[in-house]
Amino acid sequence: MPLDLGVLISGTGTNLQAILDATRAGRLDARIRIVVSNRADAAGLRRAEGAGVPTRVVPHGEFPDRESFERALVDALREAGASWVVLAGFMRLLTPEFLGAFPDRVLNIHPALLPAFPGVDAQAQALAYGVRVAGCTVHLVDAGTDTGPIIAQAVVPVDDDDTRETLQQRILAREHELLVLALGWIAEGRLEVMPPRTAGGRPRVRVRGASTAIGVVGDA
Ligand code: GRF
Repeated sequence: MPLDLGVLISGTGTNLQAILDATRAGRLDARIRIVVSNRADAAGLRRAEGAGVPTRVVPHGEFPDRESFERALVDALREAGASWVVLAGFMRLLTPEFLGAFPDRVLNIHPALLPAFPGVDAQAQALAYGVRVAGCTVHLVDAGTDTGPIIAQAVVPVDDDDTRETLQQRILAREHELLVLALGWIAEGRLEVMPPRTAGGRPRVRVRGASTAIGVVGDA
């Protein structure tokens, strides 16, 4: 059975496009049941329409509070038959109200090597810090900001003359590969959420059959 995905976006949707391309090419056993945006002007909505995928706009500003906004998101995703949710450039934090509807089934792609540089403008944070490598992370979403169990990471070099834009583009190309790679693992039923290694530690993800170099693009 293909993986039934709901994809939440707020903007350009190049990661959404990577999923659409991979499913169409038969490289990923998944189907996008719906794309939901909190912004009517998100360019990613046009990508979904172009691919014949249903879309919904759920404008956060039109709801009295976060809970009712999230309930509307959950309703749209459930009605469409999504069983996993991908945050692909979705710029709203989600609370346990939403996460409880899809326990351990919400995925985010973040343009940094977490736990470094969570939150907004991660690429600029990396440049400002002066790191020599940067990258991206696919992780399960919990109630924190970019804190959930890590599924996969990919690394890119940082050049001396990088700007925010050049680094962003280098990372983004990796994001597209990494997101499809991680979704492939999920589609194959290889993901397992494990208890923390130490008392008081964090839950973590294991990918059955992957080597210890998990997440390096091209691996597994
Ligand atoms: C990506 O850099 C993603 O990591 C971040 O938002 C950006 C979305 O890009 N969360 P796109 O809309 O997929 O092109």
